[in-house]
Amino acid sequence: MEYEIKGTLLSEEVIQKRVKELALEIEETFTGESITLVAVLKGSFMFAADLMRHISGSVEIDFISVSSYGNQTESSGKVRLLKDLDSNITDQNVVVVEDIVDSGLTLHFLMDHFKMHRPKALKICTLLDKPERREVDDLVLNFVGFQIPDEFIVGYGIDYAQQYRNLPYIASVAPASVKH
Ligand code: PRP
Ligand code: MN
Ligand code: MG
Repeated sequence: MEYEIKGTLLSEEVIQKRVKELALEIEETFTGESITLVAVLKGSFMFAADLMRHISGSVEIDFISVSSYGNQTESSGKVRLLKDLDSNITDQNVVVVEDIVDSGLTLHFLMDHFKMHRPKALKICTLLDKPERREVDDLVLNFVGFQIPDEFIVGYGIDYAQQYRNLPYIASVAPASVKH
């Protein structure tokens, strides 16, 4: 099936304002202590970059890469670790940065993985949350940008078949209408 952009769900302006607020919330939570952001590739790369530039003080970034969706629109339910952390997060204040939490299977897998390293604190920051889609019941999302309905969306790092990550806004996508 062919898909096309139907409209803007969250504009660039709305996203940027909320990202600044999230950065301040994170800063206030750790009050002067150093923070390690762990961005979950690929989807969170744009959000993580914008978030980090608004956090002042001691902040590091590391990347982990997993994939569950492949080129499908629905999660396969299997999470593959493609690239592990470079740094040691033991005794660090870790904030996992995600673009979207859908079924929650990606973060369910990752949280177990991070806990093994015994960080001092382990929190989750996600730009988007689709609570209707959740398939796990043990995920606490500490910092959430926006709760959104169960719509197919792309942009600001989020892809459909690896496309549309470059959009500076978040758009809803729908099957292309048949032309007569
Ligand atoms: C997407 C998204 C989240 C995850 C959310 O990543 O970026 O990481 O799915 O879905 P879940 O809550 O159902 O696990 P994807 O696997 O498509 O990889 P990508 O980030 O490289 O696009
Ligand atoms: Mn992802
Ligand atoms: Mg994807």
